Amino acid sequence: MKSLLKNLIDAFEDRTGLIGQMKQAALHKVPPGAKWLYVFGSATLFAFFLQVFTGIILATTYVPSSGQAYDSLNFITNEAAFGHVVRGLHYFGASAMIILIGLHTIRVFLTGSYKYPREVNWLTGALLMPLVLGMAFTGQLLRWDQNGVWGVMVAAEQAGRTPFIGKYVAHFILAGDTVGGATLTRFYALHVFIIPGLIFLLIGLHLYLVLRNGISEPPRSGHPVNPLTYRAEYHEMLEREGRPFWPDAAWRDVVFGFAMIVVVFALAWFVGPPALGNPPNPSLLHAVPRPDWYFLWYFALFALMPPSLESLAILSIPVVLGILFLCLPFINNKGERSPLRRPWAVAFVLATLIMIGTLWHLGVKSPWSPDFSAKPLPAEVVRVTSGPAYEGAILFHQKGCEYCHNIDGYGGHRGPNLSYVADFMTEREMKLRIMNGRGNMPAFAAILKPQELADLLAFLETRHRNAGLMAKPVVTQQDPR
Ligand code: HEC
Repeated sequence: MKSLLKNLIDAFEDRTGLIGQMKQAALHKVPPGAKWLYVFGSATLFAFFLQVFTGIILATTYVPSSGQAYDSLNFITNEAAFGHVVRGLHYFGASAMIILIGLHTIRVFLTGSYKYPREVNWLTGALLMPLVLGMAFTGQLLRWDQNGVWGVMVAAEQAGRTPFIGKYVAHFILAGDTVGGATLTRFYALHVFIIPGLIFLLIGLHLYLVLRNGISEPPRSGHPVNPLTYRAEYHEMLEREGRPFWPDAAWRDVVFGFAMIVVVFALAWFVGPPALGNPPNPSLLHAVPRPDWYFLWYFALFALMPPSLESLAILSIPVVLGILFLCLPFINNKGERSPLRRPWAVAFVLATLIMIGTLWHLGVKSPWSPDFSAKPLPAEVVRVTSGPAYEGAILFHQKGCEYCHNIDGYGGHRGPNLSYVADFMTEREMKLRIMNGRGNMPAFAAILKPQELADLLAFLETRHRNAGLMAKPVVTQQDPR
């Protein structure tokens, strides 16, 4: 029996040579001292496999059509066996992948591992970065809830403001003039076929190059890279003190990758996927959405920028930075690798992290974004318990006014605080503003029924500075106009 199996394996090996290849890859010598800092690349790969696995499971149930996407996700989240966990795994797996690819990039940058002979390693990795972000961006739309749809709509709208090419870029992103079924189909194709295909290809190339050029040895200050002598020195060092990749170095990759998956699983199980927002609501097209966390800082950046700058910046900043990022090893591929001798590199990483962190913090608080999690106004704020003003208070939440307007501490801050609106606006002024909108205030004329508008106005009319102290409803002065 045993010899039969062995014969089979031998025959297979004779025809394919695959086992020998794998052995060779597993046992190839790597520099000693490549310790825990070197685990982020393999962990990114583990996270990617997790995404492929959970993504395929989601794709067996998700319906990529504008009429059914939201419902199918609702079904996955609330009814399908383990659907909740699978969505959670896919969501936190995406976050993990973005964090890990970021850490891996920082490590490679700081240790100068992109220098000769690993310039093309860097290039393939640097191309993977926007693809991973592209997965995150397209995935957000597939949720087909308010946030997802608006995120893409705002991105397209802003890209559309770029001079000359903006219109075409926006049209390409949306597969039309506005977000609709065609956009969903396009994003679905990008998310499940095109981008993953490219990622597979580039990862293959990336890994091939890692094997071909070897893992970079930990940098030592005072030992600059000289392209003329580097390879010979590297091989001599490997002969002298190299260790087999498996198990001497690889056990750390396995332990870290496994720990990462345990953390993602725990988050998926105990925290769960992000709640689905409401289905897309066409009455709030002007609202600014809150994107997933990894894009939040970028949105904050544009929210803080003067609008005149914005149109040029939104596409050109990432394009210019992206080109610099890709070209880095071709600008400088020799010299010192140690971060101790490259203070500017360390400073650059720190400055970038601080900038992103600050913007992110601003983005989290983002007064410029509607607050979609606003809860209905509580009784002590509404103060009346029946009648038109009471109905109006309910509508204030239901119709989304509260996303943008704050009343006594409840609601968003995108629009003016309406706690005391009746003190500075007449009913007629309010009515005109609500019907016609202005600036970032959407027009509600087509959305509100006359009765609803009357109730809303009745509620807003109760919002006086002193109203809370008075026992009786306030009688307001008649508008003379
Ligand atoms: C997408 C965010 C948003 C939503 C949703 C929204 N508003 Fe506004 N609203 C604004 C902004 C921004 C302004 C300021 C517009 C301007 O004058 O430039 C505003 C202004 C107003 C004003 C005038 C206040 C003032 O100080 O100028 C009133 C009244 C008002 N909104 C009521 C409502 C009501 C009622 C609803 C729900 C039916 C609503 N808004 C929904 C953003 C919003």
